[in-house]
Amino acid sequence: MLFGSSRPNGAVVTRIKKGDILFLLNLEADILYGIFRSTTEGKRDIDPKAWGGNYPYQVKVEAVGEIAPILKAKKLLREMGLSRNSVMGRIATLKLADFFRPLNVEAKDWRKSLFQSKGTEESKIAEPRNWNLLGKVEDVTADVEEIPILQATTMWDFPRQSYGKNRKGDNKYAGVTPAELIWNLVWRYTEIEDLVVDPMCGSGTTIDVCKEEKRRVIGYDISPPKGRNDIIKNDARKIPLETETVDLVFIDSPYGDNIKYNNEPANIGNISAETNLFYDQLEIVMKESLRILKPGKVLGWLIGDQWVKKEFTPVGFKVYDRLVRSGFDTVDVICINRRGQFSHTAPWFNRARKFNFYLRGFKYLFIMRKPQEAEKQTIQDRKVSWAYYPREKSVQNAEKGKESSQSPS
Ligand SMILES: C[S@@+](CC[C@H](N)C(=O)[O-])C[C@H]1O[C@@H](n2cnc3c(N)ncnc32)[C@H](O)[C@@H]1O
Repeated sequence: MLFGSSRPNGAVVTRIKKGDILFLLNLEADILYGIFRSTTEGKRDIDPKAWGGNYPYQVKVEAVGEIAPILKAKKLLREMGLSRNSVMGRIATLKLADFFRPLNVEAKDWRKSLFQSKGTEESKIAEPRNWNLLGKVEDVTADVEEIPILQATTMWDFPRQSYGKNRKGDNKYAGVTPAELIWNLVWRYTEIEDLVVDPMCGSGTTIDVCKEEKRRVIGYDISPPKGRNDIIKNDARKIPLETETVDLVFIDSPYGDNIKYNNEPANIGNISAETNLFYDQLEIVMKESLRILKPGKVLGWLIGDQWVKKEFTPVGFKVYDRLVRSGFDTVDVICINRRGQFSHTAPWFNRARKFNFYLRGFKYLFIMRKPQEAEKQTIQDRKVSWAYYPREKSVQNAEKGKESSQSPS
């Protein structure tokens, strides 16, 4: 009576509260088992040894009466607008629960018992049955909470700035970050209760995402927007936190002086990305981030290039260079589709074609890691060690017309 799941479903499991109703889908057999009720909240490692540790996001359950297996479950779920990770509201839960109601129980008594009566752990499993018995198939999508999905490739595209019921950050804030981008970093690189810090958090997107995902979070900005008392006024070049105490740093910094954020003299967004001064200031922020991160933990830095007055500036490459020089290792580089740009309109597209320039279509998300103690080194003392292949082999391969080394890219 323990349900377990792996990291990609962690966000779903950790939303389970004690007393919630759960259903179990056997994907291969296409059978939906119900009904279960959680006796704990969903969390990590209730039983760390269960399934050899492969399914650490867990919840303990009890059966509500006899467990009924329902056949052809995927069709039912599809028609109701549910997927296997759906976080259902009360209406959706009750509608699905109707398909499990024993023939001799009244609908209202059944619904009441779901949330009140105590089930038994030794509950029997009934005979499998088809689902068109007592329930009525209705689309319940409107009562399902949207949970993002972990991105699998290095190309991320988020059509909307926010997701879910509660808004994250302010989509009217110039330069606001897509909330799902932060969600992905949070679920890839941190655990529940870990500490996330955003030293330039603008309208507070990082704070809002982290709170929903049960992370501890601190957000600073040089000029916190009105009404966001949870954002601390601070200059990112000096972060008031102890060394090596943070589990994830996320920064969506100014990309130069393209956006007027505020009138603060210390706003790095007042400095042109065409000057070295801009990168020098960001480098101070990078070193502060490196200092506060625990060894082995990750920094995500979002940045875009600049094309102004016929002049291209590779801001991304320059920032990446400074990140490496500051002492970070590279985990990966992600391409973020740039949506919602004021220049992404038909007249601008026409101008770009006519005058032979390009509008910015993407940003870089640099995922960097603070080296573990033993690996700490700066770029100056990094040695490149080449892997040499025996000559005979490469000659043989060349003769066969093959490449000497192949690797997935
Ligand atoms: C791209 S915005 C961040 C957007 C934010 N992630 C969001 O979703 O709303 C960059 C932010 O950096 C802040 N900033 C600029 N210079 C700063 C500094 N020296 N210290 C702290 N924040 C700074 C700006 O005020 C601005 O809010």
